[in-house]
Amino acid sequence: MEGEPVNVNEFQELARQALPKMYYDFFSGGAEDQHTLKENVEAFRRITFRPRILVDVSRINLSTTVPGYKISAPIMVAPSAMHKLAHPEGEIATARAAAASNTIMVLSSMSSCTIEEVASSCNAIRFFQLSVYKNRDVAAQLVQRAERNGYKAIVLTVDAPMLGRREADIKNKMIVPPLKNIEGLVSTEVDNDEGSILEGFAKRILDASLCWRDIGWLRSITNLPTLIKGVLTREDAIKATEVGVAGIVVSNHGARQLDYTPATITVLEEVVHAVGGKVPVFLDGGVRRGTDVFKALALGAQAVLIGRPVVYGLAAKGEYGVRKVIHMLKDELELTMALSGCPSVKDITRSHVRTEHEKIHSML
Ligand SMILES: Cc1cc2nc3c(=O)[nH]c(=O)nc-3n(C[C@H](O)[C@H](O)[C@H](O)COP(=O)(O)O)c2cc1C
Repeated sequence: MEGEPVNVNEFQELARQALPKMYYDFFSGGAEDQHTLKENVEAFRRITFRPRILVDVSRINLSTTVPGYKISAPIMVAPSAMHKLAHPEGEIATARAAAASNTIMVLSSMSSCTIEEVASSCNAIRFFQLSVYKNRDVAAQLVQRAERNGYKAIVLTVDAPMLGRREADIKNKMIVPPLKNIEGLVSTEVDNDEGSILEGFAKRILDASLCWRDIGWLRSITNLPTLIKGVLTREDAIKATEVGVAGIVVSNHGARQLDYTPATITVLEEVVHAVGGKVPVFLDGGVRRGTDVFKALALGAQAVLIGRPVVYGLAAKGEYGVRKVIHMLKDELELTMALSGCPSVKDITRSHVRTEHEKIHSML
């Protein structure tokens, strides 16, 4: 590629060039046929705009509030594991970029840097993503460390009782790199050396018995609000509001878990309707353009989270790369809002977009 990237997608190729194949495959891959991986992106492309004209858009305000915290734009950093495989500074670089962009980073349980290192690296609002381990004491310790270190919410991941089948990782025999965050708490040794070592490790440590009543357990060990990440149906959205979560993330884990789940943008409205405004709904999966962010907001998301583009930015250019990725999405969102006649985030409404479903319906 010649010159500086001009959009977020171009960082993917730079990351591919920068990383060993095993790591690039780990970051970029999805489960099995990778159908959902493609769909997460393609489904955004099937949504079109219904822009309004002759609105004063000389000033655009991208800022928004997510449970009580003002951020510069409705674009947050999704939790993703093992940033030191992308860049020697790992999550510290990512956290600094998120802080400089005045947005929230969700730190993964499976981070390369510790909760404490990330907390002291810069001043920002931060959430902590929790994967629940079979040894509940370990999970409790992580939550309490996050709370002590000023993280403002727990994002409980509920779509990964075991790892999805990622075939590139199986072929590459994906390793378990040093995970400083859980060092001394969980042994990273895995007996069998066939297939993905990471998958074997996850099978050994993740608690596949996690269920709805455990939200009560989580509440008993922390005062932090809990967001639940991995909801794709109205049934689960309703249950989540009944058990008192503070927010819902519509996510299919970046298509790394169950293949042939629908693209997240296609089920967002179903979840938003079921929740009925009781708690904020967020979305991740396939967001690669400011136009995608706009579409998610029009269909009811409070904000989106970005996974792979952040890692690609980090791999290609460290902290600067992550800043650039967030900046590009913000710039594109600003332009989309201007050209759609929406001076502020609250001006973006359902009637600004047309979904594929509506198009088909109008042809009948
Ligand atoms: C390399 C990688 C690692 C991830 N690690 C985690 C994780 O540790 N915990 C988690 O809840 N989600 C994890 N995710 C899922 C992301 O939080 C997010 O749901 C997904 O990346 C969004 O899709 P996108 O990559 O298309 O933006 C990971 C995703 C990727 C790509």
